[in-house]
Amino acid sequence: MMAAAAMLFGACCEKQCDTINPTGVVMDNILSRKSVRSYNGEAIPDSVMENILRAAMAAPSGRDWRPWSFVVLTDKSQYDSIFEGNHNMQKFKESGAIVVICADTIHMGPTRDNPDGPDVAQVNQLWRDDMGAVTENLLLAVEAYGLGACWTACYPYAETMAPVKRCLGLPASVVPYAVVPIGYHDGTTQPKDKWDPSRVHNGRW
Ligand SMILES: Cc1cc2nc3c(=O)[nH]c(=O)nc-3n(C[C@H](O)[C@H](O)[C@H](O)COP(=O)(O)O)c2cc1C
Repeated sequence: MMAAAAMLFGACCEKQCDTINPTGVVMDNILSRKSVRSYNGEAIPDSVMENILRAAMAAPSGRDWRPWSFVVLTDKSQYDSIFEGNHNMQKFKESGAIVVICADTIHMGPTRDNPDGPDVAQVNQLWRDDMGAVTENLLLAVEAYGLGACWTACYPYAETMAPVKRCLGLPASVVPYAVVPIGYHDGTTQPKDKWDPSRVHNGRW
């Protein structure tokens, strides 16, 4: 399955990539990414999952505070409790794993005014921005492995977050930001060509 997925990788964004950067692995990866919502149930090797999370954690973050944590679910009996607040997620039951990407909205560490001082609890005003970056990094790594994933909103919906927080035992300051099913797929989902020159303004709007 990995080999078949690898063959598909690169072919799916042929049209977009050829015209932009024929040999660009990074361009190919970014332009190949798409939301995949159907999987074949195959498990994801631990080493692959570790590398996906390694790529996610390489994301930039405000003040390098890295507010992210990940809860990896592979036990399908746990899926139902996660899906409780969002029935649209039922279609993700065949994913090989679900990663709940969590954000700690409070940072514990030394302050700017007192860098050598004790750890102090500080509100992280940039956590939402950091979480977008970490989630996209994860999706790109998933694509690089020939796997599919779908960013599924959790934050800011109270009814979606509540069962996830409860089931996973998240601390009070930790928000379940996104639920991302990951799995092997049949390779039929194509990336969208979103290039729109009218969105680009030169010099001024
Ligand atoms: C913040 C955010 C929330 C999303 N929530 C959902 C969701 O709840 N369910 C879903 O199926 N897709 C969700 N998506 C995926 C989008 O529908 C998808 O990215 C968009 O249609 C563009 O398609 P593409 O990812 O294939 O380029 C979400 C994406 C983002 C960035």
